[in-house]
Amino acid sequence: MSNPRVVRKAVIPVAGLGTRFLPATKATPKEMLPVVDKPAIQYVVEEAVAADIANILFVTGRNKDSLENHFDRAPSLERMLTERGALEMKEQISELADLAAIHYVRQGVPMGLGHAVSMAKDHVGNEPFAVLLGDDLVDARTPVLPDMLAAQAKFGGSILAVMEVPDNQIHLYGCAAVEATEDPNVVRVTELVEKPVPGTAPSNFAVIGRYVIDPAVFAVLEKQAPGRGGEIQLTDALASLIHMPANAGGGVHAVVFRGKRYDTGDKLSYLKSVVSIALDRVDLGPDLRSWLLDYLAGGN
Ligand code: G1P
Repeated sequence: MSNPRVVRKAVIPVAGLGTRFLPATKATPKEMLPVVDKPAIQYVVEEAVAADIANILFVTGRNKDSLENHFDRAPSLERMLTERGALEMKEQISELADLAAIHYVRQGVPMGLGHAVSMAKDHVGNEPFAVLLGDDLVDARTPVLPDMLAAQAKFGGSILAVMEVPDNQIHLYGCAAVEATEDPNVVRVTELVEKPVPGTAPSNFAVIGRYVIDPAVFAVLEKQAPGRGGEIQLTDALASLIHMPANAGGGVHAVVFRGKRYDTGDKLSYLKSVVSIALDRVDLGPDLRSWLLDYLAGGN
């Protein structure tokens, strides 16, 4: 018999406008910007699939056609690659369409992350589900989702991923006040504040864009008033879950992430992701490393 509490579905909101990356994102969705030779969003989908979550709902908006095309078959391209004998590339291209069962829902009006997640209600139903934010790239060498799924199986309720950041960065994130549990990797979340005003953050634990959420969040989101920036905030809905009883889907824990993560919506962090991932590739790493060393030493 299948276990109804197992996390089978991931929701990936991609309706954002990408204004931090203009003009590159004028006509191209920010999620499609390449990190080496794959669009950023492909790493995110591969991360979900690697954690055995192969049912994916994209919450999309206007101008996301190229993203839909990327995860679809491309018969004429595949034919052309076959004719040219580029069979390995043809395989890679066609496999992309089978990577996961991908579904779409449109957000219509961008009213915040909480609103985007509420659009997933009918698709998700009454099961815990994952949310992966397309801007956050978690390096595949240091995954966090498997630990979050294990924490969900152990503690129930909802599970966040938090990362310690310096004082001067916490206002950019959701912030979690936490206390220890008997598990050294998992903390109990006692308070959540979306993007605290500088100097008021209850801790240095920043919420990163990976969540495993109890479906009780949908009823909370329905009544959620706009929060920071006038948007319906997911953080605010999760804050309500902290105080709800476990048998009503309440309780929030977090896995402390100590791996590599990039914000591909931020220019400097995006550049770091490209360099770091390229350095790790066997086909590019050695040459890039020696060029970088040379370049930084004043060569060209
Ligand atoms: C969102 C969330 C925030 C979280 C962040 C992680 O903010 O609202 O709580 O810390 O993602 O990347 P955004 O970056 O979309 O403004």
